[in-house]
Amino acid sequence: MSATSAAPRGQTLAFPDGFVWGAATAAYQVEGAVKEDGRGPSIWDTFCRTPGAIADGHTGDTACDHYHRYADDVRLMDRLDLSVYRFSVSWSRVQPDGHGRVNPAGLDFYERLVDELLEAGVAPYAALYHWDLPQALEDRGGWTDRDTAYRFADYAKIVQDRLGDRVRTWMTVNEPWVSATLGYGIGVHAPGRTSWADAFRASHHLLLAHGLGVQVLRGGGAHEVTISVNLAPVLTPGQVNDPSLEPSPEDADAVDRVDALINRQFLDPVLRGEYPERVLPIIERVAGLGHIRDGDLADIGRPIDLLGVNYYTPCVVRSGPGEPANPAYPGTEGIEFTGAYAPTTATGWPIVPTGLSQLLLRLTRDYPGVGLLVTENGAAFDDAVTGERVHDADRTAFLESHLRAAHEAIEAGADLRGYLVWSLMDNFEWAEGYSKRFGLLHVDFDTQRRLLKDSALWYREVIRHNGLRS
Ligand code: NOJ
Repeated sequence: MSATSAAPRGQTLAFPDGFVWGAATAAYQVEGAVKEDGRGPSIWDTFCRTPGAIADGHTGDTACDHYHRYADDVRLMDRLDLSVYRFSVSWSRVQPDGHGRVNPAGLDFYERLVDELLEAGVAPYAALYHWDLPQALEDRGGWTDRDTAYRFADYAKIVQDRLGDRVRTWMTVNEPWVSATLGYGIGVHAPGRTSWADAFRASHHLLLAHGLGVQVLRGGGAHEVTISVNLAPVLTPGQVNDPSLEPSPEDADAVDRVDALINRQFLDPVLRGEYPERVLPIIERVAGLGHIRDGDLADIGRPIDLLGVNYYTPCVVRSGPGEPANPAYPGTEGIEFTGAYAPTTATGWPIVPTGLSQLLLRLTRDYPGVGLLVTENGAAFDDAVTGERVHDADRTAFLESHLRAAHEAIEAGADLRGYLVWSLMDNFEWAEGYSKRFGLLHVDFDTQRRLLKDSALWYREVIRHNGLRS
């Protein structure tokens, strides 16, 4: 039966049977309770204390207080009929120093959360690393040090030993490009370093951590193993509104180079066991190749079950002498990163739903054989609370247009298995503090009261009908 033939009357777009509907969060963005029950500090605790690093001097100290309110939050997930909740485990809750000593109280929290989810019929999807490296490991070199990848493998085993009988789907690392580039190259994320050599080494070690993690998780009987990568179709300005437009040879070269750096640098090692040829000379020039050892790419390229796709907006570039977005980014010399050619969200990101269909079909074409899961898609808008309601029509429109694009890709052959909204609730948006709201649930950060936004009620209908109604 085709995806659409099962659609009842009044329903225009049905998704395949068994399609997974969910929402996502990450530990440091929602949990709070940073000093409770033996949790050790992470690089984000430290970074938040750096003057000027975070908008309005915000920190994740309390965040959404999910650590204490998880049971109520699971009840809200249940009300939304989510089939899946993707959360991340805080490494420094489980191992306060990032290695050695295990903190049983940290594992207890995730056990309580997982049990609550299972009771509510929501499948727990556990991500092991969403940017909150234990500070003690950063003090030993962080992701620039190869040892961190081995410590990650140990930590993965500890978590799986405790939760593996209940968690079937595991995610290794979230958005390695962001972790490495913003954290070690540009310095706007923790740990705030500004060395491109460090950034390329960190990228490789994050990938190695993924590969070693896959091995551990498989050994422990994981049902599904995945990594979440932030991917952006790279387009010329003209292609934003007309994807069929042929770029000039110079623009095509700019597109290919940026695609190699931001997308293929991660996709090729994970799904083909090799670095793209266009990236290796850049890595060599900036960081040397000594950190890439024999056997690493075989480890990194171990088969995964699903590729987690985080999509927000395309990357728009053209060749030209102007100032690139970040002049120092190696490999982007002579390339201009251009601004918006479409309406934007509150983070200033252009809204381009066709970017998602293009991305999913490109993955289907270039990396066949791996299932796809949208592990993040969503948008920040300046939501206003009206009494008990939040009329976030712009978010609903964003999600709906992206789901239509996802459906189009499925119809055209993409093996997309599910879709997770970023985020379940408004939370700590890293360097932006609490100023950018991505949630389906509105959070009042003074009282911690949650409200279901209109988009959440709309999403519940989508889930109930396994598709979009006309
Ligand atoms: C990707 C990250 O994984 C998540 O932590 C972040 O909040 C969203 N993008 C929105 O920027």
